[in-house]
Amino acid sequence: MKIVIDSANVKEIRDLYEYFPIDGVTTNPSIIVKEQQTFFPLLKEIRKVIGEEKELFVQVISGKAENIVEEARYVTNSISGDVVIKVPVTIEGIKAIKLLKAEGIRTLATTVYTPLSAFVAAKAGADYVAPYVNRIDNLGDGTNVVSEITRIFSIHNLPCQVLAASFKNVKQLLNVTLAGAHGITTSPELIRAMLEHPSIEKDVCHFRNEWAQLYGKEATSLMV
Ligand code: G3P
Repeated sequence: MKIVIDSANVKEIRDLYEYFPIDGVTTNPSIIVKEQQTFFPLLKEIRKVIGEEKELFVQVISGKAENIVEEARYVTNSISGDVVIKVPVTIEGIKAIKLLKAEGIRTLATTVYTPLSAFVAAKAGADYVAPYVNRIDNLGDGTNVVSEITRIFSIHNLPCQVLAASFKNVKQLLNVTLAGAHGITTSPELIRAMLEHPSIEKDVCHFRNEWAQLYGKEATSLMV
């Protein structure tokens, strides 16, 4: 199961990448705009941080399928390494996913709210679908949508992965992990929050204190 950073903040990506088992970076127009930087240099800097082999997800802006395809070609020619194009699941988006599949350009179907739209995107050739868990939770049950999509893909042998997106808390992350998502993409804050528990530091401190009681204050490792 993948852990992907949903951010275009280079400092945050660099910090997380050093410590966490990160599989890639997702962006969307809002995430890019937040950084207030020139688009392609920013993407290239992210690529430098994560290396050529990790997936970098870039979302298109155009509405018409033919324009989406042009944008996707431009992005994949401009950014090196493993690039996946995010395409909204509009009717034009589905057409674009089919066309891009035929060209060998990998896609993620985004703005997914229902299991059937995920099914259509997967049939069209999307490599990933991204259900918007928190946004669905505001209307219904995001975890259930993730669970139904994973079941549909498994029952019908569709080689498409569910990269669940849009989270506001760690409970949602836990729920989709248990529901069988193939990956989660979330903010740096929530990736860090997956490790947060007040008892961890307390326990570690206790072990060290006991060690120091026998081996002395200078014994800060096993090499006493
Ligand atoms: O990747 C999609 C995601 O960024 C949407 O998240 O938090 O804006 O609902 P959010």
